[in-house]
Amino acid sequence: MTDGDDTDDAAPTASTPVERAKAALAAFEADGDASDSTSPPTESAPPTVAVAPGRVNLVGGHTDYNDGLCLPMAVDRHVAVAARPRSDDRLRVRAADFDETAELDPGDDPDGWAAYVAAVARVLREDDPIDGADLAIASDVPTGAGLSSSAALELSVGRALLAVSGRDLPAADLALACWRAEREGVGVECGILDQFSAALCEADSALFLDCRSRETESVPLGDGVGVLVIDTGVSHELTESGYNDRVRECAAALDSLREVADRDLDSLRDVDLALLDAHADALEPVHRRRVRHVVTENERVRNARDALAAGDLDRVGDAMLAAHDSLRDDYEVSCPELDAAVELAAETPGVYGARMTGGGFGGSAVALVDGDALDQAARAIRAAAPERVGPDADVFACRPSAGVRLVGEE
Ligand code: GLA
Repeated sequence: MTDGDDTDDAAPTASTPVERAKAALAAFEADGDASDSTSPPTESAPPTVAVAPGRVNLVGGHTDYNDGLCLPMAVDRHVAVAARPRSDDRLRVRAADFDETAELDPGDDPDGWAAYVAAVARVLREDDPIDGADLAIASDVPTGAGLSSSAALELSVGRALLAVSGRDLPAADLALACWRAEREGVGVECGILDQFSAALCEADSALFLDCRSRETESVPLGDGVGVLVIDTGVSHELTESGYNDRVRECAAALDSLREVADRDLDSLRDVDLALLDAHADALEPVHRRRVRHVVTENERVRNARDALAAGDLDRVGDAMLAAHDSLRDDYEVSCPELDAAVELAAETPGVYGARMTGGGFGGSAVALVDGDALDQAARAIRAAAPERVGPDADVFACRPSAGVRLVGEE
């Protein structure tokens, strides 16, 4: 990887990720191909541009890798990838926001953001060829904020690589390929929530996602609803947090339950409260709490989906608040800043409910707000956040967005 060259200096200042990615690609290509002057990029065609959104998860935290239920919503913040094919099989990738460039040959195994690009290309190459390409990436999804910037990167890179290679995949298959890339290439034992959200969410809707059957159903959010993100400014890193520990605790709890219940349990999805209560004493206390979270969280997702479909936003808000308590107390993936963000939101007029979103241990909280009170609630939370949540807290509204797409084909 070559760091810190100045190809972006020539790019005009542009505001959206799509504009910045296109400008960065143009500057990048104009800068030439120092490493291999025999393989210049193909510059005639306009670039292919793919965008994929970040997400918040309204309810359904840490259920995905337990075959459970989630209710995410894609946000109107995106990773954009501008791409053009090359005549060789190399990927030359410019991360405009980091001012960094990576040059990847098939089989390379880089670190950092380039690991996601290499892993997606590697998985997509298993079925059919992926052509070499110049890629430029720009994003307005904050990183480390629990909004799944990594899945947005994977999906946008994947869609762009398929397009420059003349290939296509149904969105769910691309999501699964990107999920494998994250697990195998980056080492997070995550579930499918983030990749399915970035792939399959629809505008103006939340997505009811069954992680066992992988069936999805869009649930319209309604015009009168607003969504606020409260980014605590405490960065989380799934590879370094207790995330994989939670995955293992769930697996160990499932093993214990199989043994004592003498039942065929495929996953914690097959466990209900009656089964848990019947065998609670046989489980280590920490495992009991983890299972209780997963079982009750699946129920909260069902409730929230039904309530949202019925326009009962108070009930959705209650499910979010109960989900946060469960993630804090039973699953132990919250942190003081997230708890403070949820508490602050919950006491703000117009807020139906709030909870931490994403893996936890930092990152963001999401709040569901009466659309008419949104501006006022945002102002109130923004004003109190530095003192109540933390000096780097950021508060912004977002709209439910569509999943990954090629720009020009919306
Ligand atoms: C992270 C993971 C997801 C999911 C959430 C928690 O975002 O990548 O797979 O487990 O945490 O719900």
